[in-house]
Amino acid sequence: MRIGILTGGGDCPGLNAVIRAIVRRAKKSYNYEIIGILEGWLGLLNEKYVKLDREKVAGIVYRGGTVIKTSRTNPLNIDGGLEKIINNMDSAGINALIAVGGEDTLGVAKELHAKGVKVVGVPKTIDNDIYGTDYTFGFDTAVNIAMEAIDRVHTTAESHNRVMVVEVMGRHSGWIAIESGLAGGADVILIPEKPFDVNSVCEIIKKRHGEGKDFSIVVVAEGAKFKVKADEDGTFILQDTKKDAFGHVRLGGIGNVLAKEIEKRTGFESRVVILGYIQRGGSPTAFDRVLSTRFGVGAVELIEKGDFGKMVALKGNNIISIPLEEALSKIKTVPEKFYKVAEVFFG
Ligand code: F6P
Repeated sequence: MRIGILTGGGDCPGLNAVIRAIVRRAKKSYNYEIIGILEGWLGLLNEKYVKLDREKVAGIVYRGGTVIKTSRTNPLNIDGGLEKIINNMDSAGINALIAVGGEDTLGVAKELHAKGVKVVGVPKTIDNDIYGTDYTFGFDTAVNIAMEAIDRVHTTAESHNRVMVVEVMGRHSGWIAIESGLAGGADVILIPEKPFDVNSVCEIIKKRHGEGKDFSIVVVAEGAKFKVKADEDGTFILQDTKKDAFGHVRLGGIGNVLAKEIEKRTGFESRVVILGYIQRGGSPTAFDRVLSTRFGVGAVELIEKGDFGKMVALKGNNIISIPLEEALSKIKTVPEKFYKVAEVFFG
């Protein structure tokens, strides 16, 4: 059996640990051959491969990024894209595929499975918003990086009597914001699930400062939405209106807008820190290395059982599998009751 593996979408700490685990398990237990497909779906369209063996994956468990590279190429947008992939898999003798990625990459895997391709998925995203798994790998690392940044921002905010706005990633869900904000003792946390109006944020800050505090920390997810009127859904702040291959606009910059508004409305000096790609780079935490390793081993087991069209997932402390169809039916957002816990510490 020859298995192809690809990593698609934004890179994420733990990808290399997944690749290593797949190669080690596949070789040791089943003597499968593993082909690394370079740059996600692009590599299958352009036939860019590398043979992976124990030597090639040695010493990568602690490394960030992905040794087989990634891209946001979407074969569903290319005329005959899926057929080309199926033909290329055939010519390369690739019998089964492991797609490691978020909703976009796994969405392509689902379509390929519907066309008869033997494919399994591994959920990856620092945003932690894939439905059906308690955690995605990369999230724990991102939260810890953001928490450390908030800790550092705390001491400078305190020294200067400033409001510090920390913008973290999270397009449709506020998992990084809420967990790093809670862990870092933020005074306000703003997430995409709860469109906000600036006045209520300013009221919380003014009240806090009226009670003897002279600095505040606001954590905001890049996808948090501003409400101008109380009853509206709110709008995103965009860096760029141009869409990527999966139809996503580039978010980012809400921190700047928010900091300016807070300073204007409260009179408190405000500054912003946008963490951006720092959250995605560097070494994974122990939690993410272990989760990635378990996901990699689990994906090989799915192939061995012939259980295709599934995604490995974490439920409690068990690795399970769920149909890709189900995993992609919605995204996993921050529940209201979790946000209520965070609100206890606002102000
Ligand atoms: O999907 C993870 C993510 O980190 C999002 O939070 C963010 O909006 C996006 O990737 C940005 O990625 P890129 O600029 O690489 O497309």
